[in-house]
Amino acid sequence: MSMADYLRISKIHKDFSGLRVLEGVDLKVRESERHAIIGPNGAGKTTLFNIISGKFKPSSGAILFMEQDISGKQPHELNRLGLARSFQITNVFRELSVFDNIRSGVRSRHGLRYHFFRRPEHNRLINERTEAIVHEVGLQKVMNTPASVLSYGQQRALEIGITLSTEPKIILLDEPTAGMTREETGEAIRMIDRVTAKRTLIIIEHDMDVVFSLAHTISVLHYGKILVSDIPEKIRSDQRVKDAYLGEE
Ligand SMILES: Nc1ncnc2c1ncn2[C@@H]1O[C@H](COP(=O)(O)OP(=O)(O)OP(=O)(O)O)[C@@H](O)[C@H]1O
Ligand SMILES: [Mg+2]
Repeated sequence: MSMADYLRISKIHKDFSGLRVLEGVDLKVRESERHAIIGPNGAGKTTLFNIISGKFKPSSGAILFMEQDISGKQPHELNRLGLARSFQITNVFRELSVFDNIRSGVRSRHGLRYHFFRRPEHNRLINERTEAIVHEVGLQKVMNTPASVLSYGQQRALEIGITLSTEPKIILLDEPTAGMTREETGEAIRMIDRVTAKRTLIIIEHDMDVVFSLAHTISVLHYGKILVSDIPEKIRSDQRVKDAYLGEE
């Protein structure tokens, strides 16, 4: 397996009762890369995520993750293989504290693996992992606060924390800073940078500050196809990208 083939998406087509949304998407994501997908509203970015994360089946095409064909697999199977998508609001128990929300994810991930341990040892490991994730997402000050009273930015950080509790190899984030203030966005960039240091990230984002601060590679989705996939400096100066997308800003 070459580095370029960690996640390989080829010839993905998707239509919704006649509406052709994706028309042959090809994309390669390397291990440990932070890969941003940009493109105009309605380009099909979220649809592509829905296909990668198993919510939708592609009309045709293949997705290979570490050489295994994962297209058409159920979201929970993909989760077990190490592919995790952060969903807004879902999975968050509003009445539970930040710590307990993340702990419940860590428990369900490690429940089986540690079942041979004596119970106190098992609990200690779970609490330690939970605390580490709370710190990673920067929520240590509100660790004991119920999820329902967190600020918007903190709620989004908690969703990422819950995603991390599944110990993903690849994290998918769809517009993680949408609706945030400039200050919250700055914090979110630093947090995403931290939590993806040893992981692979695919991020959909309209905020070009976020894209250019985080991405190693940027792919531009336009009219159902990847127009270009390249390093940020090349994307910034690409005339086709300016015409298709950046020029609109
Ligand atoms: N479940 C669905 N059923 C029918 N049409 C859909 C469905 N999901 C998406 N579409 C259509 O597919 C097209 C692409 O939508 P998608 O949400 O993937 O775009 P996007 O690139 O994420 O846009 P945005 O930047 O606004 O989030 C749109 O025309 C949308 O209406
Ligand atoms: Mg979208």
